[in-house]
Amino acid sequence: MKKVPNRLVVGLFWGDEGKAKIVDLLTENAYVVARYQGGANAGHSVEFANKRFILHQIPTGILHPDVECVLGAGMVLDLPQLVDEISMLEKNGIDWRNRIRISPRAHLVLPYHKQIEQVQESSQGIGTTKRGIGPAYRDKAARIGMRIGDIAVGGATTASKNHLIKKLDNWLKIVGKSYNIEFQSPSIVADELLESFDYIGKSVGEVSSFLDEIARTKGGILAEGAQGTMLSVNWGTYPYVTSSETGAGGASEGLGIDIRLFDEIVGIAKAFCTRVGNGPFPTEGDETVQEILRGTGEHSFDEFGSTTGRPRRCGWFDGMVLKYSARIDGIDSIALTKLDVLKNIDPLKIAVKYKNNEHFPANADDVEKIVPVYENLDGWDDNISEIREYEVLPENAKKYIEKIENISNVPVKYIGVGPARKQIIIR
Ligand code: GDP
Ligand code: IMO
Ligand code: MG
Repeated sequence: MKKVPNRLVVGLFWGDEGKAKIVDLLTENAYVVARYQGGANAGHSVEFANKRFILHQIPTGILHPDVECVLGAGMVLDLPQLVDEISMLEKNGIDWRNRIRISPRAHLVLPYHKQIEQVQESSQGIGTTKRGIGPAYRDKAARIGMRIGDIAVGGATTASKNHLIKKLDNWLKIVGKSYNIEFQSPSIVADELLESFDYIGKSVGEVSSFLDEIARTKGGILAEGAQGTMLSVNWGTYPYVTSSETGAGGASEGLGIDIRLFDEIVGIAKAFCTRVGNGPFPTEGDETVQEILRGTGEHSFDEFGSTTGRPRRCGWFDGMVLKYSARIDGIDSIALTKLDVLKNIDPLKIAVKYKNNEHFPANADDVEKIVPVYENLDGWDDNISEIREYEVLPENAKKYIEKIENISNVPVKYIGVGPARKQIIIR
């Protein structure tokens, strides 16, 4: 059997770059798709057969029959929401049984985490998705978190309920007591967890050795990143970030896989930049630019968050951010999505330098002060959404792509020209 490549897909900006669409494309040559971090804060949309699917915790690969899906140790899982997502799949006739493998090391997002986030957000103002992500990762780092493996593997029993209640009581004693919040009783939370676990418990299994074996033999592991490198807790615009390592390094951390087993790391960049939530955004446009970039109006969902429905902030393509993320993630190729949206915009601007900064600053306050230096590129009027060959693209669209290659020194291998599965150019 010929070995197929192991690949890693990672967002290069502030999330919503169109990762799911590229994962969906690459799944055609994969056996396993694995999420390595994040949780229900992600919203990954795929369109095919005139249907639009939005996945939050389950890897996008579930939309391809016969592909196995892994929810890795680096994730934080909201079990009732996971069950809702599975019900959505079932309603659409997608068979998920025996196709999902959940790491016992993945942490649980408890209702308590969402309550805490509600309070914290009202004064901190990160603009989070309110999915309990930050508090769940905080508990993980503080070694008081609860994991999938804390609920009995292989089905719920009374004994596991007592065990869960003990764990939840312990959490209330150590963490909960410092908040002036009325938390639900451990018995109710335990019942909810056990009810969800009844549904997905049989899917819990060993992840690291499973992936290692496949990656070394037949290949075809596809790691699906969530969020983007600029939202990384280490490398993003801290504190306006999510709470996990969203970059390529997060894949080895969250899946327990040797990073060298990946044959290709694909960085996903949108043809312009967007950001949902608060925090610095050097190339953010003024109202007119926002309106121009927000979409062609052909798709009612253009540039509204897939998870929260909030409008995304839009701005020009930031070549400096691309260079920064490309280096950190060590990408081999770029998938440039949403090129179709740029038609009828003239000139198109790309930030090629920052006036006073050679490197991307570490502090959010300094990022706020960045003055981007733009290069103007000529636009095009043609609708490119039916084009499938690079050569047929308008000359100015090719120049735009080549500029991005020159800035990053990385080839643009995939070009998105519409939201549907087929609307892609592969070079
Ligand atoms: P992800 O979180 O990175 O997977 O991205 P989202 O799914 O949150 O957001 C990307 C949005 O862009 C979705 O609505 C996709 O259907 C859409 N999309 C992806 N690629 C393209 C493309 O090439 N052209 C257009 N017009 N839309 C795209
Ligand atoms: P996908 O995988 C875009 C943003 C939130 C907020 C910050 C912290 O679809 O690209 P959190 O709830 O994680 O604590 O929020 O991160 N954010 C995303 N933005 N796409 C996402 O996921 C995001 N997940 C979180 O808006 O600014
Ligand atoms: Mg998204």
